[in-house]
Amino acid sequence: MKNICVIGVGYVGLVTAACFADLGNRVVALDISEERIEKLKQGIMPIYEPGLGEMVERNVNAGRLSFTTSYKEGLKDAEFVFICVGTPEGVDGEADLRYVRMAAEEIARTMDHPMILINKSTVPVGTGDWVAEIVRQNQPKPIEFSVVSCPEFLREGSAISDFLNPDRTILGSEDPDAASRVAELHLPLRAPIMVTDLRTAEMIKYASNAFLATRISFINEIANICEALGADVKEVAQGMGYDKRIGHHFLEAGVGYGGSCFPKDVKALAYMAQVQGRHPQLLQAVMDINAYQRRHVVLKLRDILGSLEGKIVGLMGLAFKPNTDDMREAPSITIAELLLDEGAIVRGYDPVAMENAARVMPQVEMVETPYKLAEGADAIIVVTDWNEFKQLDMERIRDSMRQPVLIDGRNIYDPKRMRELGFRYRGVGRGYNGGED
Ligand code: UGA
Repeated sequence: MKNICVIGVGYVGLVTAACFADLGNRVVALDISEERIEKLKQGIMPIYEPGLGEMVERNVNAGRLSFTTSYKEGLKDAEFVFICVGTPEGVDGEADLRYVRMAAEEIARTMDHPMILINKSTVPVGTGDWVAEIVRQNQPKPIEFSVVSCPEFLREGSAISDFLNPDRTILGSEDPDAASRVAELHLPLRAPIMVTDLRTAEMIKYASNAFLATRISFINEIANICEALGADVKEVAQGMGYDKRIGHHFLEAGVGYGGSCFPKDVKALAYMAQVQGRHPQLLQAVMDINAYQRRHVVLKLRDILGSLEGKIVGLMGLAFKPNTDDMREAPSITIAELLLDEGAIVRGYDPVAMENAARVMPQVEMVETPYKLAEGADAIIVVTDWNEFKQLDMERIRDSMRQPVLIDGRNIYDPKRMRELGFRYRGVGRGYNGGED
Protein backbone atom coordinates (compact mmCIF):
# COMPACT_ATOMS: atom_id res chain seq x y z
CA MET A 1 0.00 0.00 0.00
CA LYS A 2 1.33 3.39 -1.01
CA ASN A 3 0.19 6.87 -0.02
CA ILE A 4 -0.94 8.87 -3.02
CA CYS A 5 -2.35 12.34 -3.51
CA VAL A 6 -4.20 13.08 -6.74
CA ILE A 7 -4.65 16.74 -7.61
CA GLY A 8 -7.69 17.51 -9.76
CA VAL A 9 -10.91 15.49 -9.76
CA GLY A 10 -11.81 15.83 -13.44
CA TYR A 11 -11.92 12.78 -15.69
CA VAL A 12 -8.30 11.78 -15.40
CA GLY A 13 -7.90 12.70 -11.73
CA LEU A 14 -10.99 11.04 -10.37
CA VAL A 15 -10.46 7.87 -12.35
CA THR A 16 -6.79 7.75 -11.32
CA ALA A 17 -7.72 8.27 -7.66
CA ALA A 18 -10.48 5.67 -7.68
CA CYS A 19 -8.44 3.06 -9.55
CA PHE A 20 -5.29 3.41 -7.43
CA ALA A 21 -7.47 3.16 -4.32
CA ASP A 22 -9.10 0.07 -5.78
CA LEU A 23 -5.64 -1.42 -6.27
CA GLY A 24 -5.18 -1.18 -2.49
CA ASN A 25 -3.42 2.17 -2.06
CA ARG A 26 -4.43 4.97 0.25
CA VAL A 27 -5.47 7.92 -1.91
CA VAL A 28 -6.43 11.48 -1.08
CA ALA A 29 -8.07 13.28 -4.02
CA LEU A 30 -7.69 17.03 -3.89
CA ASP A 31 -9.41 19.80 -5.80
CA ILE A 32 -9.61 23.54 -5.30
CA SER A 33 -13.34 23.48 -6.06
CA GLU A 34 -15.17 23.31 -2.70
CA GLU A 35 -18.35 22.44 -4.57
CA ARG A 36 -16.89 19.44 -6.36
CA ILE A 37 -15.27 18.07 -3.21
CA GLU A 38 -18.42 18.61 -1.16
CA LYS A 39 -20.46 16.74 -3.75
CA LEU A 40 -17.94 13.91 -3.91
CA LYS A 41 -18.12 13.58 -0.14
CA GLN A 42 -21.87 13.12 -0.56
CA GLY A 43 -21.27 10.50 -3.25
CA ILE A 44 -22.28 12.75 -6.16
CA MET A 45 -19.95 12.35 -9.16
CA PRO A 46 -18.98 15.54 -11.02
CA ILE A 47 -18.94 13.62 -14.31
CA TYR A 48 -20.89 10.81 -15.94
CA GLU A 49 -18.69 7.77 -16.30
CA PRO A 50 -20.04 4.22 -16.19
CA GLY A 51 -18.94 2.37 -13.03
CA LEU A 52 -17.12 5.32 -11.47
CA GLY A 53 -19.65 6.19 -8.75
CA GLU A 54 -19.72 2.62 -7.55
CA MET A 55 -15.94 2.35 -7.44
CA VAL A 56 -15.60 5.64 -5.57
CA GLU A 57 -18.20 4.58 -3.01
CA ARG A 58 -16.58 1.19 -2.44
CA ASN A 59 -13.18 2.71 -1.80
CA VAL A 60 -14.45 5.54 0.38
CA ASN A 61 -16.27 2.95 2.51
CA ALA A 62 -13.10 0.85 2.73
CA GLY A 63 -11.22 3.91 4.02
CA ARG A 64 -8.80 3.95 1.06
CA LEU A 65 -10.16 7.04 -0.69
CA SER A 66 -10.91 10.47 0.73
CA PHE A 67 -11.45 13.99 -0.62
CA THR A 68 -10.10 17.34 0.41
CA THR A 69 -9.54 20.90 -0.71
CA SER A 70 -6.53 21.27 1.58
CA TYR A 71 -3.01 20.80 0.22
CA LYS A 72 -1.77 20.31 3.77
CA GLU A 73 -4.10 17.36 4.26
CA GLY A 74 -3.56 15.99 0.75
CA LEU A 75 0.23 16.03 0.87
CA LYS A 76 0.62 15.00 4.52
CA ASP A 77 1.73 11.41 3.96
CA ALA A 78 2.00 11.43 0.18
CA GLU A 79 4.88 9.62 -1.46
CA PHE A 80 3.40 10.10 -4.93
CA VAL A 81 1.54 13.21 -6.08
CA PHE A 82 -0.34 12.97 -9.36
CA ILE A 83 -1.02 16.26 -11.11
CA CYS A 84 -4.24 15.76 -13.06
CA VAL A 85 -5.52 19.32 -13.42
CA GLY A 86 -7.14 20.66 -16.56
CA THR A 87 -5.04 22.11 -19.37
CA PRO A 88 -7.66 23.98 -21.41
CA GLU A 89 -6.98 25.53 -24.76
CA GLY A 90 -5.51 29.00 -24.55
CA VAL A 91 -5.09 31.56 -27.31
CA ASP A 92 -3.81 30.31 -30.71
CA GLY A 93 -4.22 26.70 -29.62
CA GLU A 94 -1.48 27.01 -27.04
CA ALA A 95 -2.27 24.96 -23.90
CA ASP A 96 -3.26 27.08 -20.92
CA LEU A 97 -1.08 25.92 -18.03
CA ARG A 98 -2.39 28.14 -15.28
CA TYR A 99 -3.82 25.24 -13.24
CA VAL A 100 -0.59 23.27 -13.54
CA ARG A 101 1.30 26.31 -12.33
CA MET A 102 -1.07 26.82 -9.39
CA ALA A 103 -0.77 23.17 -8.40
CA ALA A 104 3.04 23.26 -8.63
CA GLU A 105 3.22 26.42 -6.52
CA GLU A 106 0.91 25.01 -3.86
CA ILE A 107 2.84 21.75 -3.73
CA ALA A 108 6.09 23.66 -3.34
CA ARG A 109 4.74 25.80 -0.53
CA THR A 110 3.15 22.88 1.33
CA MET A 111 5.53 19.93 0.96
CA ASP A 112 7.42 19.00 4.10
CA HIS A 113 8.99 15.73 2.98
CA PRO A 114 10.45 14.35 -0.29
CA MET A 115 7.92 13.23 -2.87
CA ILE A 116 7.54 12.28 -6.52
CA LEU A 117 5.39 14.56 -8.65
CA ILE A 118 3.78 12.75 -11.54
CA ASN A 119 2.21 14.62 -14.39
CA LYS A 120 -0.75 12.85 -15.93
CA SER A 121 -2.40 15.81 -17.64
CA THR A 122 -1.59 16.30 -21.32
CA VAL A 123 0.95 19.10 -21.20
CA PRO A 124 3.18 20.75 -23.78
CA VAL A 125 6.56 19.19 -24.27
CA GLY A 126 8.89 20.79 -21.73
CA THR A 127 6.27 21.22 -19.01
CA GLY A 128 7.89 18.65 -16.72
CA ASP A 129 11.08 20.71 -16.62
CA TRP A 130 9.03 23.86 -16.09
CA VAL A 131 7.10 22.29 -13.17
CA ALA A 132 10.39 21.30 -11.52
CA GLU A 133 11.59 24.87 -11.88
CA ILE A 134 8.41 26.32 -10.35
CA VAL A 135 8.56 23.94 -7.41
CA ARG A 136 12.22 24.78 -6.79
CA GLN A 137 11.52 28.52 -6.92
CA ASN A 138 8.56 28.35 -4.55
CA GLN A 139 9.92 26.01 -1.88
CA PRO A 140 10.48 27.88 1.38
CA LYS A 141 13.43 25.52 2.04
CA PRO A 142 14.91 22.93 -0.32
CA ILE A 143 13.24 19.52 -0.05
CA GLU A 144 14.02 16.75 -2.51
CA PHE A 145 11.51 15.89 -5.20
CA SER A 146 11.41 14.41 -8.69
CA VAL A 147 9.12 15.05 -11.61
CA VAL A 148 7.88 12.13 -13.69
CA SER A 149 5.68 12.30 -16.76
CA CYS A 150 3.12 9.51 -16.94
CA PRO A 151 0.63 10.43 -19.65
CA GLU A 152 -2.84 8.96 -19.35
CA PHE A 153 -4.42 7.24 -22.34
CA LEU A 154 -7.92 6.55 -21.01
CA ARG A 155 -11.05 7.30 -22.99
CA GLU A 156 -14.21 8.83 -21.62
CA GLY A 157 -16.95 6.26 -21.43
CA SER A 158 -14.55 3.38 -20.86
CA ALA A 159 -12.21 5.20 -18.50
CA ILE A 160 -12.04 2.61 -15.73
CA SER A 161 -11.32 -0.37 -17.92
CA ASP A 162 -8.86 1.69 -19.99
CA PHE A 163 -7.06 2.72 -16.82
CA LEU A 164 -6.93 -0.79 -15.40
CA ASN A 165 -6.01 -2.46 -18.71
CA PRO A 166 -3.65 -0.07 -20.45
CA ASP A 167 -1.75 -1.08 -23.57
CA ARG A 168 1.36 0.47 -22.05
CA THR A 169 2.61 2.68 -19.25
CA ILE A 170 4.91 5.47 -20.34
CA LEU A 171 7.21 6.99 -17.72
CA GLY A 172 9.39 9.96 -18.50
CA SER A 173 11.99 11.01 -15.99
CA GLU A 174 15.56 12.14 -15.59
CA ASP A 175 15.70 10.33 -12.23
CA PRO A 176 15.98 6.51 -12.60
CA ASP A 177 15.09 5.88 -8.95
CA ALA A 178 11.88 7.93 -9.18
CA ALA A 179 10.98 6.21 -12.46
CA SER A 180 11.42 2.78 -10.93
CA ARG A 181 9.28 3.68 -7.89
CA VAL A 182 6.50 4.94 -10.14
CA ALA A 183 6.92 1.83 -12.29
CA GLU A 184 6.40 -0.31 -9.20
CA LEU A 185 3.13 1.50 -8.50
CA HIS A 186 1.96 0.53 -11.99
CA LEU A 187 3.05 -3.12 -11.85
CA PRO A 188 -0.42 -4.42 -10.88
CA LEU A 189 -1.69 -3.11 -14.24
CA ARG A 190 0.49 -5.73 -15.94
CA ALA A 191 1.21 -3.63 -19.01
CA PRO A 192 4.58 -3.06 -20.66
CA ILE A 193 6.36 -0.16 -18.95
CA MET A 194 8.56 2.06 -21.06
CA VAL A 195 10.91 4.50 -19.38
CA THR A 196 12.13 7.48 -21.34
CA ASP A 197 13.18 11.05 -20.71
CA LEU A 198 10.59 13.64 -19.68
CA ARG A 199 10.14 15.37 -23.00
CA THR A 200 9.86 12.17 -24.97
CA ALA A 201 7.11 10.90 -22.66
CA GLU A 202 5.20 14.17 -23.09
CA MET A 203 5.59 13.90 -26.84
CA ILE A 204 4.37 10.29 -26.92
CA LYS A 205 1.01 11.48 -25.62
CA TYR A 206 0.60 14.20 -28.27
CA ALA A 207 1.85 11.99 -31.07
CA SER A 208 -0.56 9.20 -30.06
CA ASN A 209 -3.62 11.45 -29.98
CA ALA A 210 -2.57 13.21 -33.19
CA PHE A 211 -2.11 9.86 -34.91
CA LEU A 212 -5.57 8.65 -33.87
CA ALA A 213 -7.10 11.94 -35.01
CA THR A 214 -5.22 11.53 -38.30
CA ARG A 215 -6.75 8.10 -38.81
CA ILE A 216 -10.21 9.61 -38.32
CA SER A 217 -9.57 12.45 -40.77
CA PHE A 218 -7.98 10.01 -43.20
CA ILE A 219 -11.04 7.78 -43.25
CA ASN A 220 -13.28 10.84 -43.50
CA GLU A 221 -11.37 11.97 -46.55
CA ILE A 222 -11.69 8.49 -48.03
CA ALA A 223 -15.43 8.65 -47.19
CA ASN A 224 -15.84 11.80 -49.21
CA ILE A 225 -14.06 10.21 -52.15
CA CYS A 226 -16.23 7.09 -51.73
CA GLU A 227 -19.35 9.24 -52.01
CA ALA A 228 -18.15 10.68 -55.27
CA LEU A 229 -17.09 7.33 -56.72
CA GLY A 230 -19.94 5.16 -55.46
CA ALA A 231 -18.04 3.03 -52.95
CA ASP A 232 -19.00 2.23 -49.35
CA VAL A 233 -16.50 3.50 -46.79
CA LYS A 234 -17.69 1.12 -44.08
CA GLU A 235 -16.66 -1.83 -46.16
CA VAL A 236 -13.54 -0.05 -47.37
CA ALA A 237 -12.47 0.48 -43.74
CA GLN A 238 -13.28 -3.11 -42.87
CA GLY A 239 -11.30 -4.39 -45.81
CA MET A 240 -8.35 -2.16 -44.93
CA GLY A 241 -8.50 -3.16 -41.27
CA TYR A 242 -7.80 -6.83 -41.95
CA ASP A 243 -4.29 -5.79 -42.85
CA LYS A 244 -2.52 -6.25 -39.51
CA ARG A 245 -0.38 -3.21 -40.23
CA ILE A 246 -3.55 -1.11 -40.39
CA GLY A 247 -6.02 -2.70 -37.95
CA HIS A 248 -9.69 -1.89 -37.49
CA HIS A 249 -9.64 0.78 -34.78
CA PHE A 250 -10.38 4.45 -35.33
CA LEU A 251 -11.48 4.05 -38.91
CA GLU A 252 -15.11 5.02 -38.47
CA ALA A 253 -16.10 7.80 -40.81
CA GLY A 254 -18.61 10.32 -39.52
CA VAL A 255 -19.10 13.89 -38.39
CA GLY A 256 -15.53 13.97 -37.10
CA TYR A 257 -13.79 13.85 -33.75
CA GLY A 258 -14.72 16.04 -30.79
CA GLY A 259 -14.18 15.95 -27.06
CA SER A 260 -11.75 17.51 -24.68
CA CYS A 261 -8.67 15.83 -26.13
CA PHE A 262 -8.24 15.36 -29.87
CA PRO A 263 -9.26 18.87 -31.01
CA LYS A 264 -7.17 20.53 -28.31
CA ASP A 265 -4.16 18.25 -28.60
CA VAL A 266 -3.85 18.35 -32.39
CA LYS A 267 -4.06 22.14 -32.25
CA ALA A 268 -1.53 22.34 -29.43
CA LEU A 269 0.93 20.08 -31.24
CA ALA A 270 0.61 22.16 -34.40
CA TYR A 271 1.16 25.28 -32.33
CA MET A 272 4.29 23.84 -30.69
CA ALA A 273 5.64 22.97 -34.12
CA GLN A 274 4.90 26.42 -35.53
CA VAL A 275 6.55 28.17 -32.61
CA GLN A 276 9.69 26.21 -33.49
CA GLY A 277 9.46 27.30 -37.13
CA ARG A 278 8.13 23.94 -38.41
CA HIS A 279 5.23 23.52 -40.81
CA PRO A 280 2.81 20.91 -39.50
CA GLN A 281 0.99 20.48 -42.82
CA LEU A 282 -0.49 17.10 -42.06
CA LEU A 283 -1.87 18.24 -38.69
CA GLN A 284 -3.40 21.25 -40.42
CA ALA A 285 -5.11 19.00 -42.95
CA VAL A 286 -6.37 16.75 -40.15
CA MET A 287 -8.03 19.78 -38.51
CA ASP A 288 -9.44 21.13 -41.80
CA ILE A 289 -11.01 17.80 -42.73
CA ASN A 290 -12.49 17.49 -39.25
CA ALA A 291 -14.10 20.93 -39.48
CA TYR A 292 -15.47 20.12 -42.94
CA GLN A 293 -17.14 16.90 -41.74
CA ARG A 294 -19.49 18.91 -39.55
CA ARG A 295 -20.45 21.24 -42.37
CA HIS A 296 -20.84 18.36 -44.75
CA VAL A 297 -23.93 16.89 -43.06
CA VAL A 298 -25.64 20.26 -43.28
CA LEU A 299 -24.70 20.56 -46.96
CA LYS A 300 -26.25 17.13 -47.55
CA LEU A 301 -29.42 18.24 -45.87
CA ARG A 302 -29.57 21.37 -47.99
CA ASP A 303 -29.04 19.25 -51.02
CA ILE A 304 -32.17 17.25 -50.22
CA LEU A 305 -34.42 19.90 -48.66
CA GLY A 306 -33.27 23.00 -50.50
CA SER A 307 -33.68 25.96 -48.16
CA LEU A 308 -33.60 25.07 -44.48
CA GLU A 309 -35.65 28.12 -43.49
CA GLY A 310 -38.42 27.03 -41.10
CA LYS A 311 -37.54 23.33 -41.47
CA ILE A 312 -37.65 21.24 -38.30
CA VAL A 313 -34.44 19.27 -37.85
CA GLY A 314 -33.86 16.77 -35.04
CA LEU A 315 -30.34 16.07 -33.79
CA MET A 316 -30.16 12.49 -32.57
CA GLY A 317 -27.36 12.42 -30.01
CA LEU A 318 -25.60 15.50 -28.71
CA ALA A 319 -22.61 14.31 -26.64
CA PHE A 320 -19.28 14.21 -28.51
CA LYS A 321 -19.46 10.41 -28.38
CA PRO A 322 -21.60 7.74 -26.70
CA ASN A 323 -21.45 6.87 -22.98
CA THR A 324 -20.60 10.34 -21.84
CA ASP A 325 -22.47 13.55 -21.05
CA ASP A 326 -19.49 15.58 -22.23
CA MET A 327 -20.34 18.33 -24.69
CA ARG A 328 -16.83 19.74 -25.12
CA GLU A 329 -16.12 20.31 -28.82
CA ALA A 330 -19.13 18.13 -29.65
CA PRO A 331 -19.88 18.15 -33.40
CA SER A 332 -23.56 18.69 -32.46
CA ILE A 333 -22.73 22.24 -31.36
CA THR A 334 -21.37 23.30 -34.76
CA ILE A 335 -24.10 21.43 -36.62
CA ALA A 336 -26.82 23.11 -34.52
CA GLU A 337 -25.25 26.54 -35.12
CA LEU A 338 -25.06 25.99 -38.88
CA LEU A 339 -28.69 24.87 -39.00
CA LEU A 340 -29.88 27.77 -36.87
CA ASP A 341 -27.94 30.18 -39.10
CA GLU A 342 -29.89 28.84 -42.05
CA GLY A 343 -33.19 29.47 -40.28
CA ALA A 344 -33.98 25.90 -39.27
CA ILE A 345 -35.82 24.99 -36.06
CA VAL A 346 -33.55 22.61 -34.20
CA ARG A 347 -34.50 19.93 -31.68
CA GLY A 348 -32.16 17.71 -29.75
CA TYR A 349 -32.22 14.41 -27.92
CA ASP A 350 -29.46 12.65 -26.02
CA PRO A 351 -29.73 9.85 -23.45
CA VAL A 352 -27.50 11.61 -20.88
CA ALA A 353 -26.06 14.87 -22.23
CA MET A 354 -29.20 17.00 -22.54
CA GLU A 355 -28.66 18.94 -19.36
CA ASN A 356 -25.15 19.95 -20.41
CA ALA A 357 -26.29 20.46 -24.00
CA ALA A 358 -29.09 22.84 -22.98
CA ARG A 359 -26.44 25.11 -21.46
CA VAL A 360 -24.33 25.33 -24.60
CA MET A 361 -27.16 25.39 -27.15
CA PRO A 362 -30.00 27.33 -25.53
CA GLN A 363 -31.80 27.78 -28.86
CA VAL A 364 -32.18 24.05 -29.34
CA GLU A 365 -35.40 22.54 -27.97
CA MET A 366 -34.63 19.40 -25.97
CA VAL A 367 -37.12 16.52 -26.23
CA GLU A 368 -37.43 13.39 -24.08
CA THR A 369 -37.27 10.60 -26.64
CA PRO A 370 -36.03 9.92 -30.18
CA TYR A 371 -39.69 9.47 -31.16
CA LYS A 372 -40.54 12.98 -29.97
CA LEU A 373 -37.59 14.20 -32.02
CA ALA A 374 -39.22 12.73 -35.12
CA GLU A 375 -42.73 14.16 -34.63
CA GLY A 376 -43.42 16.54 -37.51
CA ALA A 377 -39.71 16.83 -38.32
CA ASP A 378 -38.41 17.46 -41.83
CA ALA A 379 -35.17 15.64 -41.12
CA ILE A 380 -33.18 13.78 -38.51
CA ILE A 381 -29.42 13.92 -38.27
CA VAL A 382 -27.67 11.17 -36.29
CA VAL A 383 -24.81 12.95 -34.57
CA THR A 384 -23.78 10.53 -31.79
CA ASP A 385 -23.70 6.75 -32.18
CA TRP A 386 -25.42 5.77 -28.94
CA ASN A 387 -26.35 2.09 -28.96
CA GLU A 388 -29.99 2.86 -28.12
CA PHE A 389 -30.42 4.50 -31.55
CA LYS A 390 -29.50 1.33 -33.39
CA GLN A 391 -32.69 -0.60 -32.60
CA LEU A 392 -35.35 2.11 -32.82
CA ASP A 393 -38.73 1.43 -34.39
CA MET A 394 -37.83 3.12 -37.69
CA GLU A 395 -41.30 2.66 -39.17
CA ARG A 396 -42.71 4.67 -36.28
CA ILE A 397 -40.02 7.33 -36.77
CA ARG A 398 -40.76 7.50 -40.50
CA ASP A 399 -44.53 7.74 -40.01
CA SER A 400 -44.34 10.59 -37.53
CA MET A 401 -41.98 12.73 -39.61
CA ARG A 402 -43.21 15.41 -41.99
CA GLN A 403 -40.58 14.27 -44.47
CA PRO A 404 -38.61 11.05 -43.95
CA VAL A 405 -35.14 12.50 -44.41
CA LEU A 406 -32.38 10.74 -42.48
CA ILE A 407 -28.80 11.99 -42.43
CA ASP A 408 -26.79 9.34 -40.67
CA GLY A 409 -23.69 11.18 -39.49
CA ARG A 410 -22.32 8.05 -37.78
CA ASN A 411 -23.26 5.34 -40.28
CA ILE A 412 -25.28 3.36 -37.73
CA TYR A 413 -28.01 2.27 -40.13
CA ASP A 414 -28.06 0.02 -43.15
CA PRO A 415 -28.54 2.35 -46.15
CA LYS A 416 -30.39 -0.28 -48.19
CA ARG A 417 -32.87 -1.04 -45.42
CA MET A 418 -33.46 2.65 -44.70
CA ARG A 419 -34.16 3.32 -48.37
CA GLU A 420 -36.50 0.32 -48.50
CA LEU A 421 -38.36 1.80 -45.53
CA GLY A 422 -38.85 4.94 -47.57
CA PHE A 423 -36.27 7.23 -45.99
CA ARG A 424 -34.27 9.62 -48.07
CA TYR A 425 -31.09 8.37 -46.48
CA ARG A 426 -27.56 9.77 -46.59
CA GLY A 427 -24.73 8.31 -44.60
CA VAL A 428 -21.10 9.41 -44.61
CA GLY A 429 -19.14 7.91 -47.48
CA ARG A 430 -21.78 5.39 -48.38
CA GLY A 431 -22.05 5.93 -52.06
CA TYR A 432 -23.53 3.22 -54.22
CA ASN A 433 -23.97 2.80 -57.94
CA GLY A 434 -21.94 5.89 -58.57
CA GLY A 435 -23.91 8.17 -56.28
CA GLU A 436 -25.94 8.60 -53.13
CA ASP A 437 -29.63 8.91 -52.46
C1 UGA B 1 -8.99 10.20 -26.52
C2 UGA B 1 -8.04 9.02 -26.72
O1 UGA B 1 -8.70 7.95 -27.38
C3 UGA B 1 -7.50 8.52 -25.38
O2 UGA B 1 -6.55 7.50 -25.60
C4 UGA B 1 -6.84 9.68 -24.65
O3 UGA B 1 -6.39 9.30 -23.37
C5 UGA B 1 -7.84 10.81 -24.49
O4 UGA B 1 -8.30 11.22 -25.79
C6 UGA B 1 -7.13 11.95 -23.81
O5 UGA B 1 -6.18 12.51 -24.38
O6 UGA B 1 -7.43 12.21 -22.63
P1 UGA B 1 -11.59 10.46 -25.83
O7 UGA B 1 -11.44 11.89 -26.21
O8 UGA B 1 -12.25 10.11 -24.54
O9 UGA B 1 -10.12 9.75 -25.78
O10 UGA B 1 -12.45 9.77 -26.95
P2 UGA B 1 -12.27 8.75 -28.17
O11 UGA B 1 -13.02 7.52 -27.86
O12 UGA B 1 -10.86 8.59 -28.55
O13 UGA B 1 -13.07 9.54 -29.31
C7 UGA B 1 -12.67 10.84 -29.73
C8 UGA B 1 -13.54 11.34 -30.84
O14 UGA B 1 -13.26 10.68 -32.06
C9 UGA B 1 -15.04 11.15 -30.62
O15 UGA B 1 -15.71 12.33 -31.03
C10 UGA B 1 -15.41 9.99 -31.52
O16 UGA B 1 -16.74 10.03 -31.93
C11 UGA B 1 -14.45 10.22 -32.68
N1 UGA B 1 -14.13 9.00 -33.44
C12 UGA B 1 -13.47 7.97 -32.85
C13 UGA B 1 -14.47 8.93 -34.78
O17 UGA B 1 -15.07 9.87 -35.35
N2 UGA B 1 -14.15 7.81 -35.49
C14 UGA B 1 -13.49 6.77 -34.93
O18 UGA B 1 -13.22 5.78 -35.65
C15 UGA B 1 -13.16 6.85 -33.57
